[in-house]
Amino acid sequence: MINKKILFVCLGNICRSPAAEGIMASVIKKNEMEEFIMVDSAGTIPYHRGELPDQRMRSHALKRGYSLTHRSRMFDPEKDFDFFDYIVVMDGQNYTDIISLDKRKVYKDKIFKMIDFCSEHRIKAVPDPYYLGSEGFEEVLDILEDGCSGLFNKVKDNIGLRT
Ligand code: 4NP
Repeated sequence: MINKKILFVCLGNICRSPAAEGIMASVIKKNEMEEFIMVDSAGTIPYHRGELPDQRMRSHALKRGYSLTHRSRMFDPEKDFDFFDYIVVMDGQNYTDIISLDKRKVYKDKIFKMIDFCSEHRIKAVPDPYYLGSEGFEEVLDILEDGCSGLFNKVKDNIGLRT
């Protein structure tokens, strides 16, 4: 039975968060935990609603074995705050945007920054690769693999617990 639900959030939901979703789904599958952990992703802006991830991100991710098929959607404060256990944002702007949607200030403990789960990258944010070249996409995937590994260990340890 699904016990932990993770939502990755970025700005457009076409680069960083769908890549994080694909990487995390792969880690969960490798560890045979699909029965217990589910993943999704969302954006804070609606411009790319319904679109597949950015072609550049899809091709860089596919080279590493991740097939990204998510369709962009906007974060829905009415549903997502309650439904998900971990809301994992990519940068400071995402964090501010999501925190500001939590009008009653009751969901702060569910909101995390991806970089806080990284052990190999000492950085302040997962950079937005949208206006960057190939190296930017590769760098983002490196960061997300690092973060997903740390996040998976945390979530796995909390299976069966309330948080
Ligand atoms: P993401 O990247 O937040 O990682 O999905 C972006 C995608 C689209 C835009 C900005 C960032 N945009 O301005 O359309």
